[in-house]
Amino acid sequence: MDLLDLVRQRYSVRKYTDKKVEKEKVDYILECARLAPSACNRQPWSVYVVTSDDVLAKLKQAYNRDWMENVSTILVLSAHHDQSWHRERFDNKDHSDVDLAILADHIILAATQCGLGSCWVCAFDPAMCREALEMVDEQEEPVVMIPLGYIDSSVGVPEKKRKNLSDIVVFK
Ligand SMILES: Cc1cc2nc3c(=O)[nH]c(=O)nc-3n(C[C@H](O)[C@H](O)[C@H](O)COP(=O)(O)O)c2cc1C
Repeated sequence: MDLLDLVRQRYSVRKYTDKKVEKEKVDYILECARLAPSACNRQPWSVYVVTSDDVLAKLKQAYNRDWMENVSTILVLSAHHDQSWHRERFDNKDHSDVDLAILADHIILAATQCGLGSCWVCAFDPAMCREALEMVDEQEEPVVMIPLGYIDSSVGVPEKKRKNLSDIVVFK
């Protein structure tokens, strides 16, 4: 699919059917994730693929929303702050959030390409998420959860509300 069509097609899906995501689709998505760029090519991330009932249940407590009910695949992306590039010569800015956002976008667009719905989720309880994943390294931080699944089409596609280019682009 043309990239612009793919970007137009993607939206935050908050209602899923109970159909499970096939392993081939997860593999395709993970390969798209693996090829994501990162600052200094540090790749300071882990991708947790959660499909087991007990861990899914714990993640759904960490992000307790009715619309998560049918979700049977959740990816959790974590950053390793001891691996990420910091802008040491100037302000030491940690670029892991930038890296993780690119990783997440590769995943979400790949999911769209596979005919799957997804949603960025950051409003979870990080302590509960860490516990669910048995994440003990203090340098590792869960950054985003991405539920993946088949879209329940009983809910309509929301209108894309975006600023106009003239409001955001500055030509100099
Ligand atoms: C960094 C980030 C965090 C987000 N966290 C959540 C979240 O916790 N829960 C949720 O339902 N949507 C979350 N969203 C989805 C946004 O609300 C959504 O992308 C935005 O409203 C635009 O809508 P669209 O994705 O349908 O185009 C998040 C999006 C981003 C980029």
